[in-house]
Amino acid sequence: MWAGNVWRASLFGVPCRRPAQSALAQLRGILEAEMEGIREAGNWKSERVIMSRQGPHIHVGGVSGGILNFCANNYLGLSSHPEVIQAGLQALEEFGAGLSSVRFICGTQSVHKNLEAKIARFHQREDAILCPSCFDANAGLFEALLTPEDAVLSDELNHASIIDGIRLCKANKYRYGHLDMADLEAKLQEAQKHRLRLVATDGAFSMDGDIAPLQEICHLTSRYGALVFVDE
Ligand SMILES: Cc1ncc(COP(=O)(O)O)c(C=O)c1O
Repeated sequence: MWAGNVWRASLFGVPCRRPAQSALAQLRGILEAEMEGIREAGNWKSERVIMSRQGPHIHVGGVSGGILNFCANNYLGLSSHPEVIQAGLQALEEFGAGLSSVRFICGTQSVHKNLEAKIARFHQREDAILCPSCFDANAGLFEALLTPEDAVLSDELNHASIIDGIRLCKANKYRYGHLDMADLEAKLQEAQKHRLRLVATDGAFSMDGDIAPLQEICHLTSRYGALVFVDE
Protein backbone atom coordinates (compact mmCIF):
# COMPACT_ATOMS: atom_id res chain seq x y z
CA MET A 1 0.00 0.00 0.00
CA TRP A 2 1.37 3.43 -0.93
CA ALA A 3 1.01 5.92 1.90
CA GLY A 4 2.74 9.30 1.53
CA ASN A 5 6.42 8.75 1.09
CA VAL A 6 6.65 5.26 2.59
CA TRP A 7 5.52 1.86 1.36
CA ARG A 8 3.54 0.05 4.04
CA ALA A 9 3.55 -3.71 4.24
CA SER A 10 -0.12 -3.74 5.26
CA LEU A 11 -0.06 -7.32 6.55
CA PHE A 12 2.35 -6.49 9.33
CA GLY A 13 1.82 -2.75 9.54
CA VAL A 14 5.56 -2.22 9.20
CA PRO A 15 6.56 0.95 7.33
CA CYS A 16 9.21 0.21 4.69
CA ARG A 17 11.27 2.73 2.77
CA ARG A 18 10.11 3.50 -0.74
CA PRO A 19 12.05 1.36 -3.23
CA ALA A 20 14.70 3.43 -4.99
CA GLN A 21 13.47 4.88 -8.29
CA SER A 22 16.20 2.99 -10.11
CA ALA A 23 14.83 -0.32 -8.80
CA LEU A 24 11.33 0.62 -9.97
CA ALA A 25 12.70 1.68 -13.34
CA GLN A 26 14.58 -1.60 -13.57
CA LEU A 27 11.39 -3.55 -12.76
CA ARG A 28 9.45 -1.54 -15.35
CA GLY A 29 12.09 -2.35 -17.98
CA ILE A 30 11.94 -6.06 -17.15
CA LEU A 31 8.13 -6.11 -17.29
CA GLU A 32 8.00 -4.16 -20.56
CA ALA A 33 10.42 -6.58 -22.20
CA GLU A 34 8.40 -9.51 -20.86
CA MET A 35 5.14 -8.05 -22.22
CA GLU A 36 6.73 -7.35 -25.58
CA GLY A 37 7.83 -10.99 -25.73
CA ILE A 38 4.27 -12.12 -24.96
CA ARG A 39 2.91 -9.84 -27.73
CA GLU A 40 5.51 -11.06 -30.23
CA ALA A 41 4.66 -14.68 -29.45
CA GLY A 42 1.01 -13.89 -30.22
CA ASN A 43 -0.01 -14.71 -26.65
CA TRP A 44 -1.24 -11.26 -25.60
CA LYS A 45 -4.76 -11.37 -24.17
CA SER A 46 -6.62 -8.14 -23.75
CA GLU A 47 -9.49 -7.90 -21.30
CA ARG A 48 -12.99 -7.99 -22.76
CA VAL A 49 -15.30 -5.77 -20.77
CA ILE A 50 -18.83 -7.16 -20.60
CA MET A 51 -21.44 -4.40 -20.50
CA SER A 52 -24.39 -6.71 -19.84
CA ARG A 53 -25.28 -9.71 -17.69
CA GLN A 54 -23.34 -12.91 -18.18
CA GLY A 55 -25.07 -15.26 -20.63
CA PRO A 56 -24.98 -16.73 -24.14
CA HIS A 57 -25.75 -13.24 -25.60
CA ILE A 58 -23.64 -10.42 -24.20
CA HIS A 59 -22.62 -6.87 -25.03
CA VAL A 60 -18.91 -6.15 -24.96
CA GLY A 61 -17.29 -2.74 -24.77
CA GLY A 62 -15.96 -1.54 -28.13
CA VAL A 63 -18.03 -4.06 -30.11
CA SER A 64 -21.25 -2.85 -31.68
CA GLY A 65 -24.25 -5.15 -31.39
CA GLY A 66 -24.58 -8.27 -29.28
CA ILE A 67 -22.17 -11.17 -29.53
CA LEU A 68 -22.47 -14.87 -28.75
CA ASN A 69 -20.45 -15.95 -25.73
CA PHE A 70 -18.98 -19.45 -25.67
CA CYS A 71 -16.34 -18.93 -22.99
CA ALA A 72 -17.98 -18.73 -19.57
CA ASN A 73 -18.49 -21.64 -17.18
CA ASN A 74 -22.13 -20.56 -16.81
CA TYR A 75 -23.39 -23.89 -18.17
CA LEU A 76 -26.79 -23.79 -16.50
CA GLY A 77 -27.28 -20.05 -17.00
CA LEU A 78 -27.65 -19.60 -13.24
CA SER A 79 -25.79 -16.28 -13.08
CA SER A 80 -28.70 -14.51 -14.80
CA HIS A 81 -31.54 -16.73 -13.62
CA PRO A 82 -34.38 -14.59 -12.16
CA GLU A 83 -34.79 -16.81 -9.08
CA VAL A 84 -31.05 -16.69 -8.34
CA ILE A 85 -31.03 -12.90 -8.72
CA GLN A 86 -34.07 -12.62 -6.42
CA ALA A 87 -32.43 -14.85 -3.81
CA GLY A 88 -29.26 -12.75 -4.07
CA LEU A 89 -31.23 -9.56 -3.43
CA GLN A 90 -32.91 -11.08 -0.38
CA ALA A 91 -29.56 -12.28 0.94
CA LEU A 92 -28.11 -8.77 0.51
CA GLU A 93 -30.98 -7.38 2.61
CA GLU A 94 -30.63 -9.97 5.33
CA PHE A 95 -26.88 -10.62 5.44
CA GLY A 96 -25.31 -7.50 3.93
CA ALA A 97 -22.79 -7.14 1.12
CA GLY A 98 -20.00 -9.41 2.32
CA LEU A 99 -18.18 -10.12 5.54
CA SER A 100 -14.94 -8.19 5.19
CA SER A 101 -13.25 -11.23 6.63
CA VAL A 102 -12.13 -14.61 5.39
CA ARG A 103 -13.99 -17.65 6.70
CA PHE A 104 -10.99 -18.69 8.76
CA ILE A 105 -11.38 -15.56 10.89
CA CYS A 106 -15.08 -14.63 11.05
CA GLY A 107 -16.47 -15.00 7.56
CA THR A 108 -18.98 -17.86 7.82
CA GLN A 109 -22.70 -17.12 7.80
CA SER A 110 -25.70 -19.41 8.12
CA VAL A 111 -26.33 -19.05 4.35
CA HIS A 112 -22.94 -20.65 3.65
CA LYS A 113 -23.64 -23.55 6.02
CA ASN A 114 -27.13 -24.09 4.59
CA LEU A 115 -25.82 -24.18 1.02
CA GLU A 116 -22.99 -26.55 1.98
CA ALA A 117 -25.46 -28.89 3.68
CA LYS A 118 -27.68 -28.88 0.57
CA ILE A 119 -24.73 -29.56 -1.76
CA ALA A 120 -23.51 -32.40 0.46
CA ARG A 121 -27.01 -33.92 0.54
CA PHE A 122 -27.31 -33.62 -3.25
CA HIS A 123 -23.98 -35.43 -3.75
CA GLN A 124 -24.72 -37.91 -0.92
CA ARG A 125 -21.64 -36.87 1.04
CA GLU A 126 -21.03 -36.13 4.74
CA ASP A 127 -20.20 -32.50 4.16
CA ALA A 128 -19.07 -29.93 1.60
CA ILE A 129 -16.89 -26.81 1.61
CA LEU A 130 -17.58 -23.87 -0.69
CA CYS A 131 -14.59 -22.13 -2.25
CA PRO A 132 -14.72 -18.89 -4.26
CA SER A 133 -13.41 -20.73 -7.33
CA CYS A 134 -12.26 -24.17 -8.39
CA PHE A 135 -8.74 -22.76 -8.62
CA ASP A 136 -8.89 -21.99 -4.88
CA ALA A 137 -10.23 -25.44 -4.06
CA ASN A 138 -7.42 -27.13 -5.97
CA ALA A 139 -4.79 -24.82 -4.49
CA GLY A 140 -5.87 -25.80 -0.95
CA LEU A 141 -6.73 -29.47 -1.14
CA PHE A 142 -3.41 -31.28 -1.60
CA GLU A 143 -1.52 -29.43 1.12
CA ALA A 144 -4.34 -30.11 3.58
CA LEU A 145 -4.45 -33.86 2.89
CA LEU A 146 -0.91 -34.93 2.10
CA THR A 147 2.40 -34.82 3.96
CA PRO A 148 5.98 -35.75 2.97
CA GLU A 149 5.09 -39.33 3.93
CA ASP A 150 2.52 -39.48 1.12
CA ALA A 151 2.48 -39.44 -2.67
CA VAL A 152 0.38 -37.77 -5.34
CA LEU A 153 0.17 -39.14 -8.88
CA SER A 154 -1.01 -36.61 -11.44
CA ASP A 155 -1.99 -36.83 -15.12
CA GLU A 156 0.52 -34.72 -17.07
CA LEU A 157 -2.27 -32.65 -18.67
CA ASN A 158 -4.17 -31.85 -15.48
CA HIS A 159 -5.53 -28.33 -15.11
CA ALA A 160 -3.04 -25.66 -14.04
CA SER A 161 -4.79 -25.29 -10.67
CA ILE A 162 -4.13 -28.96 -9.83
CA ILE A 163 -0.50 -28.55 -10.87
CA ASP A 164 -0.15 -25.45 -8.65
CA GLY A 165 -1.94 -27.17 -5.75
CA ILE A 166 0.42 -30.15 -6.00
CA ARG A 167 3.42 -27.79 -6.09
CA LEU A 168 2.27 -26.31 -2.78
CA CYS A 169 2.12 -29.65 -0.97
CA LYS A 170 5.08 -31.59 0.39
CA ALA A 171 4.01 -35.02 -0.83
CA ASN A 172 6.20 -37.04 -3.21
CA LYS A 173 5.18 -36.22 -6.78
CA TYR A 174 4.68 -38.58 -9.70
CA ARG A 175 3.47 -37.52 -13.14
CA TYR A 176 1.96 -40.11 -15.44
CA GLY A 177 1.41 -39.84 -19.20
CA HIS A 178 -1.90 -38.32 -20.27
CA LEU A 179 -4.63 -41.00 -19.88
CA ASP A 180 -1.85 -43.62 -19.93
CA MET A 181 -3.02 -46.42 -17.62
CA ALA A 182 0.10 -48.54 -18.11
CA ASP A 183 2.21 -45.59 -16.97
CA LEU A 184 -0.16 -44.92 -14.05
CA GLU A 185 0.20 -48.54 -12.96
CA ALA A 186 4.01 -48.31 -13.17
CA LYS A 187 3.95 -45.10 -11.08
CA LEU A 188 1.58 -46.71 -8.55
CA GLN A 189 4.01 -49.61 -8.17
CA GLU A 190 6.86 -47.15 -7.66
CA ALA A 191 4.81 -45.18 -5.11
CA GLN A 192 3.87 -48.21 -2.97
CA LYS A 193 6.58 -47.22 -0.47
CA HIS A 194 4.64 -44.12 0.59
CA ARG A 195 1.97 -43.99 3.33
CA LEU A 196 -0.96 -42.66 1.25
CA ARG A 197 -1.17 -42.51 -2.53
CA LEU A 198 -3.59 -40.10 -4.22
CA VAL A 199 -4.25 -40.20 -7.97
CA ALA A 200 -5.37 -36.77 -9.23
CA THR A 201 -7.15 -36.25 -12.53
CA ASP A 202 -9.44 -33.84 -14.34
CA GLY A 203 -12.79 -35.46 -15.14
CA ALA A 204 -13.04 -33.70 -18.51
CA PHE A 205 -9.72 -32.20 -19.65
CA SER A 206 -10.66 -28.65 -20.47
CA MET A 207 -7.99 -27.94 -23.11
CA ASP A 208 -8.43 -31.10 -25.20
CA GLY A 209 -11.89 -32.34 -24.29
CA ASP A 210 -10.60 -35.80 -23.30
CA ILE A 211 -12.54 -37.70 -20.65
CA ALA A 212 -10.58 -39.45 -17.89
CA PRO A 213 -10.99 -43.26 -17.90
CA LEU A 214 -12.36 -43.27 -14.36
CA GLN A 215 -13.32 -46.93 -14.31
CA GLU A 216 -9.77 -47.99 -15.16
CA ILE A 217 -8.30 -45.46 -12.74
CA CYS A 218 -10.54 -46.74 -9.92
CA HIS A 219 -9.74 -50.33 -10.83
CA LEU A 220 -6.00 -49.60 -10.53
CA THR A 221 -6.35 -47.57 -7.34
CA SER A 222 -8.31 -50.31 -5.61
CA ARG A 223 -5.68 -52.83 -6.68
CA TYR A 224 -2.87 -50.64 -5.28
CA GLY A 225 -4.75 -49.24 -2.27
CA ALA A 226 -4.74 -45.63 -3.49
CA LEU A 227 -7.22 -42.75 -3.29
CA VAL A 228 -8.72 -40.90 -6.28
CA PHE A 229 -9.27 -37.17 -6.64
CA VAL A 230 -11.41 -36.05 -9.61
CA ASP A 231 -11.79 -32.41 -10.61
CA GLU A 232 -15.28 -32.29 -12.05
C1 LIG B 1 -10.66 -28.91 -14.87
C2 LIG B 1 -10.69 -27.50 -14.33
N1 LIG B 1 -10.25 -27.27 -13.07
C3 LIG B 1 -10.25 -26.02 -12.55
C4 LIG B 1 -10.71 -24.94 -13.27
C5 LIG B 1 -10.65 -23.58 -12.64
O1 LIG B 1 -11.94 -23.20 -12.32
P1 LIG B 1 -12.29 -21.72 -11.82
O2 LIG B 1 -12.42 -20.88 -13.04
O3 LIG B 1 -13.59 -21.90 -11.06
O4 LIG B 1 -11.19 -21.29 -10.91
C6 LIG B 1 -11.17 -25.12 -14.57
C7 LIG B 1 -11.65 -23.97 -15.35
O5 LIG B 1 -12.32 -24.08 -16.34
C8 LIG B 1 -11.17 -26.43 -15.12
O6 LIG B 1 -11.58 -26.66 -16.37
